Amino acid sequence: MNQVERLSVALDERRYDILIGEDLIARAGEHMAPLAQAAGGGRRVMIVTDETVAGLHLGTLERALAGAGIAAEAFVVPPGEASKDFATLQHLCERLLEAGLDRRSLLVALGGGVVGDLTGFAAAILLRGIDFVQIPTTLLAQVDSSVGGKTGIDTPQGKNLVGAFHQPRLVLADTGALASLPRREMLAGYAEVAKYGLLGDAGFFHWLQGHGHAVVEGEPNALRQAVLTSCRAKAAVVAADEREAGQRALLNLGHTFAHALEIECGFGQDLLHGEAVAIGMTLAFELSAQLGHCPPEDADAVRRHLAAVDLPTGFGRLGGRAWTAERLIEHMRKDKKASGGRLTFVLARRIGEAFVSRDVDEAEVAHLLTEAITQTAPPLDLAGE
Ligand code: GLY
Repeated sequence: MNQVERLSVALDERRYDILIGEDLIARAGEHMAPLAQAAGGGRRVMIVTDETVAGLHLGTLERALAGAGIAAEAFVVPPGEASKDFATLQHLCERLLEAGLDRRSLLVALGGGVVGDLTGFAAAILLRGIDFVQIPTTLLAQVDSSVGGKTGIDTPQGKNLVGAFHQPRLVLADTGALASLPRREMLAGYAEVAKYGLLGDAGFFHWLQGHGHAVVEGEPNALRQAVLTSCRAKAAVVAADEREAGQRALLNLGHTFAHALEIECGFGQDLLHGEAVAIGMTLAFELSAQLGHCPPEDADAVRRHLAAVDLPTGFGRLGGRAWTAERLIEHMRKDKKASGGRLTFVLARRIGEAFVSRDVDEAEVAHLLTEAITQTAPPLDLAGE
């Protein structure tokens, strides 16, 4: 039997476990039985998933639950970020209510970040809050979005601007499910893995320098270790600062730059969130070096490692757009992390030691971005001149 690792998110009466292992979807019945039997037993289990994940994992999950005597119904939403909207939320909530959802019902989010955020938010607001379980099937969801209780949807004004903190009752991170993940999504999730090393654990970053390729290639031991270390780091941060009054903000390393890039690229396939985070973390370390907070060698090491696993680290792979520092900074001013008109950045003193800064001079950011944009601008095509 494959090894299962168990971590706890220590939130008093809302504490919950994160299980990490290779065949957890197939064993979900045994792990969910205590929850399904809680509150007098016989709880309705309602699985929310998307069309892509349903084709890959829904049958396995339904068989596993049936094997443990847990009856479950499935509700399938379209795949993609577009499903994180009011219309899909409304439709989902109404279907669940029509199907007879009650206060003791248990929602299960089977899928990536979109399904997790949408289902978690539905669980937060249906009947003023019901229990839910996260079964994340992407690397990014396993190491970040499924843990910590941030749920929500997007609006035309921006991503995740409507939502709630609502912690799951259990997270089952089945690393075997990642075998079906496209390489590009694996890499995007890897950016969030590397983030934990860069913001607070230099030893983990050094481990990733040696094992990053194995993680991205899906080598089981390396993958389990990477997910375990990432979830342990996230669980500790969430337990210490659930509502992001302090240190949870460090998890936004690279995200001020990343969100500005994502707004320009339209939150679609042109630039995945994790790819934007990889570029953002590179820029955050370069800004830290430029401001004299961090040795330039550390910023170089960050860029080299992310590039070595084949993540983007600058504007070069985002061709075809007329980037300007002014537009990117304009997006940053509207970011929900900005406060009182001041941009917020997570900067670093060195690899493994990040801090939040709200007093970066915009001219410094403009200088960094202008350099980064011009360095990677495609050579002028003078052929027709
Ligand atoms: N993804 C950042 C956080 O959960 O706080």
